[in-house]
Amino acid sequence: MEIIRVNSYEEMSKTACKQIVNQLRQSDRSVLGLATGSTPEGLYQQLIDQYKEGNVSFQHVTTFNLDEYVGLAADDPNSYRYYMNEKLFRHIDLPDNKAFLPRGDVDDPEKECQDYEALIKDAGHVDLQVLGLGLNGHIGFNEPGTSFGSRTHMVTLDESTRQANARFFPTLDDVPKKAITMGIDTIMESKKIVLLVSGEKKADAVNQLVNGEVTEEFPASILQKHPNAVLIADEGALSKL
Ligand code: F6R
Repeated sequence: MEIIRVNSYEEMSKTACKQIVNQLRQSDRSVLGLATGSTPEGLYQQLIDQYKEGNVSFQHVTTFNLDEYVGLAADDPNSYRYYMNEKLFRHIDLPDNKAFLPRGDVDDPEKECQDYEALIKDAGHVDLQVLGLGLNGHIGFNEPGTSFGSRTHMVTLDESTRQANARFFPTLDDVPKKAITMGIDTIMESKKIVLLVSGEKKADAVNQLVNGEVTEEFPASILQKHPNAVLIADEGALSKL
C-alpha cells in the first residue's frame, strides 16, 4: 500500500481531490465509491470547488456509497443519503439517478443488499473507492470479525461504533443498531482504493493497518493485499508508525 504523508487535514482533502479529478480525466464515465463520516467532508468541499471552477464535471459519473443506517429514510438528517445530498450531491451536476446508496427504510433490508450488489454489478465495477478508517479497523460498516469474503450485507453495529457516531445524534439511544454495508469483498473489487485518515486518535489504528497482520479481526488490514491502494494520512495519523 502506497502511503502519502501530508501535513494537515486540508492537504489530505486536496490530495484526495486530485486523485478523483485525475480519475475523472481518465474517464468522465467513472464509477466512484464514496464514504460518509467526518473524514471526507473536506474532500467533498474541494470537489465542489473544482466543479464550480469548471475543472470537473460529474454529468456522466455514477457513485455508490458504502453504507446506510437501517431504519432511516432519505430525508432523515442523520441518514447517509441526507449527508451526501447536503455535503456533495446538491452542489454538483451528478444526475440524481446515478447517485446510489443502500436504502435504509425498506421493508426488506436483506433484499436491498442483493439489489445493491446487482446495481454495482450492472455498473461494471467501482473505479475508485474512497474509504475512511474506524477506530476499531472497520471499513464501511464491516466490523471486526466480518468475513473477508463478505458482499453487501446487513450488520449489527459495534457498541464502540455507535458511541463514535453518537456525536451526530441527539442521544446514544437514537443511533441505529443496524446498517447495510458493502462487504469487504465488494470493496476489494474496486480498481483503486483511496483511504483517508486524519488525526492522532487514529494513530493506533493506522499502525495496526500498516504493520499488523492481515486478519478479519481488523478488517482494514485486508487493504495490504489490494494491488492499488493508497493511504493519504496526516502527521497525527502517522505518528505511531
Ligand atoms: C462511512 C463509513 C465508515 C467511516 C469510519 C470513519 O461511510 O463507512 O467506515 O469511514 O467510521 O468515520 P469518521 O470519518 O467519522 O472518523
